[in-house]
Amino acid sequence: MEQLLQQIEAIKAEIAATVATTADQVEQFRIKYLGTKGLVKEIMGEMKNVPNEQKKEFGQILNAFKMVAEEKMQQLQAALGDSDEQTAKFDFTLPGDPVAVGTRHPLNLVRNQMVSIFKRLGFAVAEGPEVEDDWHNFGAMNLPEDHPARDMQDTFYVQAATEENSAWLLRTHTSSVQARVMETQKPPIRVICPGRVYRNETISARAHCFFHQVEGLYIDENVSFADLKQTLYFFVQEMFGKEVKVRFRPSYFPFTEPSAEMDISCQICSGKGCNICKHTGWVEILGSGMVHPKVLENFDIDPEKYTGFAFGMGVERIAQLKYQVNDLRLYSQNDLRFLEQFKSV
Ligand code: PHE
Repeated sequence: MEQLLQQIEAIKAEIAATVATTADQVEQFRIKYLGTKGLVKEIMGEMKNVPNEQKKEFGQILNAFKMVAEEKMQQLQAALGDSDEQTAKFDFTLPGDPVAVGTRHPLNLVRNQMVSIFKRLGFAVAEGPEVEDDWHNFGAMNLPEDHPARDMQDTFYVQAATEENSAWLLRTHTSSVQARVMETQKPPIRVICPGRVYRNETISARAHCFFHQVEGLYIDENVSFADLKQTLYFFVQEMFGKEVKVRFRPSYFPFTEPSAEMDISCQICSGKGCNICKHTGWVEILGSGMVHPKVLENFDIDPEKYTGFAFGMGVERIAQLKYQVNDLRLYSQNDLRFLEQFKSV
């Protein structure tokens, strides 16, 4: 009798611990405990061996035992029913959850557009390192050490110059790539140099310590200032539409002579006057000029035979005019609310 009670307790514990999540497992449970040859029946069969005076007490224990098995069976079936119901409710014909697709960064959109316009004019893309030596960024571009124009571009130095080595710095313009092209190629040269540049400036809505440029260089026989003007005029018309007006203003760059800056009619207010154009109706978008003979000589290109023009502009500025972004910091903050606005462009 004692032994039988222990056996019942053990089976009850086993039942409580049973996990059955599939219809198959629940059926296994039924067969093992409640089937015609199941454990409940088997234990019930012991009734005949129980002395008469204990039969009543033992009968109650057996009934409770049977109920434990039956309740568990009901629980298992109910749990199974739930998940069956879920499967039945699931509508496989519903459209799937949308997959979030990323968007191109506005600066990449504008850079790609700029590149494709110049490609149509026969310009090839050239790229170079962002960490440069002094020569390619400054010296070759007719900015020898102590040249006051170096102050025009506040520079991040990576390594100061030593007696044997030149200084290393983060390029301040992609003119350094032009230098590398002239070093390895002979005219005719027709390249554009898109890339990131760095200047030591306090970050604000109007200035950043890094930004992006597209610079261009065209060297051949008989390249004239008229070619420069026409190329840039074509570019802004493609970029902003035929209505855009341009004007050139004399300027100064050590690597070009003569030099000019180009303004376009403000794309935000159509020339009426707004904050972006400081109420002048015009916005400066690039620097340009005829390549200085000294620069050509630095690369053994004969200035008597060849002439060329160069220009450089900021991608952020072009994007600002195209998309009316008036804070430069937005481009690098990675705020999805900003970036997602360029989904459809
Ligand atoms: N390198 C100049 C700058 O970054 C831009 C420029 C390029 C001007 C070529 C003239 C000619 O400011």
